[in-house]
Amino acid sequence: MQFSTFQKDLDEWQGSSLIFGVVKEEIESQLEKIKFVVNPKLLLKKVKAKKFKGEKGEILNFEFLDQKLETLIIIGLGKSKELNKSDIKNSLGDQIRKIVDKNEKTSILLPWKLINSQVEIHHLAESARLSAYKDNRFNKKKDEKKVLKEIEFLNLNKYENICFEETEKICEGVELARRLVAAPPNSLTPQEMSITASQIAKDHDLEIKILDAKECENLGMGAYLAVAKGSDLEPKFIHLTLKSDGPIKEKIALVGKGLTFDSGGYNLKVGASQIEMMKYDMGGSAAVLGAAKALGAIKPKGLEIHFIVAACENMINGSAVHPGDVVKASNGKTIEINNTDAEGRLTLADALTYASNLKPDSIIDLATLTGAIVIALGNDVAGFWSNNNDLAKELKNASAEVGEELWQMPLKKSYKEGLKSHIADMKNTGPRAGGSITAALFLEEFFDKEIKWAHIDIAGTCWTDKNKGINPSGATGFGVKTLVQWIKNKLD
Ligand code: BES
Ligand code: MG
Ligand code: ZN
Repeated sequence: MQFSTFQKDLDEWQGSSLIFGVVKEEIESQLEKIKFVVNPKLLLKKVKAKKFKGEKGEILNFEFLDQKLETLIIIGLGKSKELNKSDIKNSLGDQIRKIVDKNEKTSILLPWKLINSQVEIHHLAESARLSAYKDNRFNKKKDEKKVLKEIEFLNLNKYENICFEETEKICEGVELARRLVAAPPNSLTPQEMSITASQIAKDHDLEIKILDAKECENLGMGAYLAVAKGSDLEPKFIHLTLKSDGPIKEKIALVGKGLTFDSGGYNLKVGASQIEMMKYDMGGSAAVLGAAKALGAIKPKGLEIHFIVAACENMINGSAVHPGDVVKASNGKTIEINNTDAEGRLTLADALTYASNLKPDSIIDLATLTGAIVIALGNDVAGFWSNNNDLAKELKNASAEVGEELWQMPLKKSYKEGLKSHIADMKNTGPRAGGSITAALFLEEFFDKEIKWAHIDIAGTCWTDKNKGINPSGATGFGVKTLVQWIKNKLD
């Protein structure tokens, strides 16, 4: 998929589908703008007949079968004064999805003079592409339908030399994350994830280390390995490093939960716990690898960025961890595993310790960690915790810029009580109440307190059952854009 602009005389334009955005005022004069494809008087008549007013969310869909333009979609954007970026993105997304199988190119004409900056155009382009995303890897539709290959912007004269290269790189990162999350657990195994990481390293010249079970054992990663024990598949500990040329001003570690399947273990997921969806329990690592791909291509200056994933499956066999087992993490702390389904934090314990030993300035971890965060914030907002106000602010800003919603949750110290164990230094599971908070408090035990840290629980946001805004149903790729924007903001 590529972006392009058509800057020549519109009478020379060729294409078969056009999405045209209009604001509420002066519909008549706006229709003049597409006289290169349809007679404005005729169009006005039809528009009036359909009582279209240009209200926000109003849509008109025309099929001109015998003319060069096959599909014209007019999107109402509401009053120009109230024009809202995310409304435009969402309606554009909904409409692009309708034509994505029918055309190889779709063109977009919006009231550009009301859109204030190149950044906004980039965001619109990004949203258009991500809305149009299709995944036919596991069915045969691939051969049957047309695939959208080009999104073209018409009349963008205000930004004559606009370049979409970076937007493309970010989209590729998000799309990689979506592909990883959506891949079923018999396809995306820990081994397969390590192959993807190696490919990123090769394509973008990153350093890569993949540790097998033995090497992890040598590092004392008893918490991570306890989770992996019940699976026939070997765990893979993935560590990618992106180092800018020249002096390094800041060192960052991004850590992602990488459970390619979470059965719950002996605390098996039963009833309505959606065991069949637990392929997406590697959503955090998908975001981290997606960010690695995007940042590997963007190559930010002055930074050393580590991407870390302790990938494995949480399964059941004769050597699986028992509920009640006590294990030792690589920082020496012992953990009573009172619930084998709270496995993500066990893998993260060793991944965070590993990250901490690299002595970064900050660590951000992303994880589909708790059902509790889904109950608290639903599917549109991810919860996050941080031990540092500056980092929290930076993350909030970055996420707001890219349209991924984050809500800060408290690191309520008194809830640590819930993790007390009679036998070990701590339990892995606290009481049901405040479950996503105790999970965050558990993670806080596994890195150097001096390091700025944030934890993002994406259990509710990494997947959507229905088309929603810029996300087609399925994996959202949540987190990639925030991570990349957070890094980009360091460069300005
Ligand atoms: N992977 C799940 C969390 C999850 C739940 C993600 C629903 C997406 C949707 C995690 O490993 C888990 O099972 N957490 C338990 C923790 C509990 C045992 C303390 C949970 O949330 O039920
Ligand atoms: Mg679990
Ligand atoms: Zn899990």
